[in-house]
Amino acid sequence: MNLKTLHETALAMVAPGKGILAADESTGTIKKRFDQIGIENTWAHRRAYRDMLFTTPDFEKYTSGVILFEETLFDKGLDDTPFPKLLAARGVIPGIKVDQGAKPLAGGVAEETVTEGLDGLRERLEKYRAAGARFAKWRAVITIGEDSPTDYAIHVNAHALARYAALCQEADIVPIVEPEVLMDGDNDIETCEDVTDVVLAAVFGELYAQRVVLEGIILKPNMVVSGAGCSDQACIEEVAERTLRVLRRHVPAAVPGIAFLSGGQSDELATAHLDAMNKAGPLPWGLTFSYGRALQAAALKAWSGKNVDAGKAAHQHRAKMNSLAALGKWDQSLERAA
Ligand code: 13P
Repeated sequence: MNLKTLHETALAMVAPGKGILAADESTGTIKKRFDQIGIENTWAHRRAYRDMLFTTPDFEKYTSGVILFEETLFDKGLDDTPFPKLLAARGVIPGIKVDQGAKPLAGGVAEETVTEGLDGLRERLEKYRAAGARFAKWRAVITIGEDSPTDYAIHVNAHALARYAALCQEADIVPIVEPEVLMDGDNDIETCEDVTDVVLAAVFGELYAQRVVLEGIILKPNMVVSGAGCSDQACIEEVAERTLRVLRRHVPAAVPGIAFLSGGQSDELATAHLDAMNKAGPLPWGLTFSYGRALQAAALKAWSGKNVDAGKAAHQHRAKMNSLAALGKWDQSLERAA
């Protein structure tokens, strides 16, 4: 393990004004996105779509790294340059989603899951590093329901996240540690804060127990928000305040950075929340975005399988807005101006 490499990569991932594009939708998930624009989920369409995103003008000014799905890591852009090489040539760090999905948890309640993919991970990481990946992602999913989350679900997911992180560091790959408390319930924001609190405590406990070096990870948490089905939606200031409170309680200053998932928030709200938190700084860690939907939704719609320039323009705008939010310099008038 090379601690210097890990630390430098992690710092570069959260460099000021830069964030991460999550473009690692599995073949099943990208089908759901393509269905929305009436595009068939073929390899050629997936390749063309990702090529459009990765050749967006100026996107390297706003983007430190891109999380790829395995197919894309080993694929080539439309000019026949391997995708990881195309990204690295622009100064954008290639990353790879290494988990194999959240599967129903035996003995769990309701919809609880545990994320799979540890078997053979050491060997896969070697292959991914050789292909150019310098960081990885593993997403654990925690649901809020009547009787969930159980301590059992939190524990097994935290344990798996730490096992994954330790294996990544052994391979000189920075692990993005992603414990996502889902926001699609009808719970209030206080419940989200309480659950996020318990989950982060468990995750950092396991990282410590499994000897993961905090200087060489990036945390990718949910923000503390009201459930999508809750009638009382907390305002931007409350989301920022509660999210920062829970992060300050659990994330040691040794962690170089925190890069949020968007989790179903609208594009603009995801930007506004990040901006409000950075305006409330100084903070002990870099605080940025690692959005999937909130970075891609507008680009996907504008592209719709054929309008490459419109897709790039939409992607560039969203990336720029989030870059400003990562600096605490975003303003809603910038959206209207565009
Ligand atoms: P969303 O921003 O769409 O939640 O996706 C981020 C991600 O990488 C989930 O694992």
